[in-house]
Amino acid sequence: MMIERSASKWILVAAARPNFMKIAPLMRAVAAHNEKGDPPIRPVLVHTGQHYDANMSDAFFRDLNLPEPDIHLGIGSGTHGEQTGRVIIEFEKILLRETPDIVIVVGDVNSTMACALAAVKLHIPVAHVEAGLRSFDRTMPEEINRIVTDAVSDYLFTPSPDGDEQLLREGIPREKIHLVGDIMVDSLFAGLEIAKERPTLDRLGLDGRPYALVTLHRPANVDDKNTFTRILGGLTAVAEKIPVIFPIHPRTRKQVVLFGLEPHFVFHKEERPLSPDAGSMLHAYQPFGYLDFLNLMAHATVVLTDSGGIQEETTVLDIPCITIRDTTERPITLTEGTNVLVHDDPDRIITEVDRVLDGHRRKSKCPAIWDGHTAERIVRILSTHGTAR
Ligand code: UD1
Repeated sequence: MMIERSASKWILVAAARPNFMKIAPLMRAVAAHNEKGDPPIRPVLVHTGQHYDANMSDAFFRDLNLPEPDIHLGIGSGTHGEQTGRVIIEFEKILLRETPDIVIVVGDVNSTMACALAAVKLHIPVAHVEAGLRSFDRTMPEEINRIVTDAVSDYLFTPSPDGDEQLLREGIPREKIHLVGDIMVDSLFAGLEIAKERPTLDRLGLDGRPYALVTLHRPANVDDKNTFTRILGGLTAVAEKIPVIFPIHPRTRKQVVLFGLEPHFVFHKEERPLSPDAGSMLHAYQPFGYLDFLNLMAHATVVLTDSGGIQEETTVLDIPCITIRDTTERPITLTEGTNVLVHDDPDRIITEVDRVLDGHRRKSKCPAIWDGHTAERIVRILSTHGTAR
């Protein structure tokens, strides 16, 4: 006689834009497990609401085929203390009501750390996907979130061997650490062909044209007027050579207005072909959804960014990446990928872009374990480690 074991309940936390492409493959892998697996897994998707604009959240749910969240906490923006505190308070209530067997958090945003803390205090096991990354720059809010989340997690899923080495150096027991690869690559591989069929380039008048794609949102780059102005100077010089496409993050847009930096930009309200007379201005758009942005990245001549995830995505796509930061928590993108750090130095920005335009670009060796099967590995490990009741 078959004895049916009871389902285990997993809470998966999504909060901000860079989380959604990490949660989507996990939801799919859970569904695939449930087709054949025993015991079944009952996923509960919690959106903390750290990001709430339609183009920072809803568009990603749509593009990534994510189901509606089961629970939405509606936390919104605030200072670090306010935002983190509100997530802890509201998420704790959910944990007490739902009594999950495990909480899965991804990445390094404030909600990642807050939900991990709320869970561990209630003795609920925590799994951290994207563990072990360190920039060694404690002025970055994400660095604090990474350190704290890793310290309290029971399962630490790392994207690359440097993550394992770092966690071991910090005294985390080896049996808690699982090298599973980069979960964002699961979403990238799942979406790339669909993305490439979209008319994004046509709509922007970029088909067959070289262009640079820029994202910038780190407080260190955009919250200080001198730094932000210096970086925009470098980007404007790039725009004299090739069009610069700059989807603007809400934080960055606020700072542009605050510092009166609008003259650097042409603001496109809709996606229309570029006007030929934009000169050296930067083409600003609302943030793109996942698939349009992936399409833009896959066809870009060069990407300039301060995002963490984009450093990895360009490495997988073999597109040159110039990172406007002093450090990276993803060193494998420097050693094996297309990434180069230029600090906030406009001259380095221009030199590195010129290098790409002259054909001297780095080639990427995509890390072998970044194969699109990370979520399956995670679900296999968690479902065989006894998270059932
Ligand atoms: C957050 C994450 C960062 C991540 C980034 C990706 C933390 C500490 N930071 O930074 O790691 O790389 O998301 O986007 O968790 N805003 C809106 N609409 C939104 C969201 C934010 O207008 O949907 C505005 C608000 O004015 C807010 C500001 O953007 O104050 C910053 O948002 P916040 O979530 O605090 O930090 P991010 O800069 O988005």
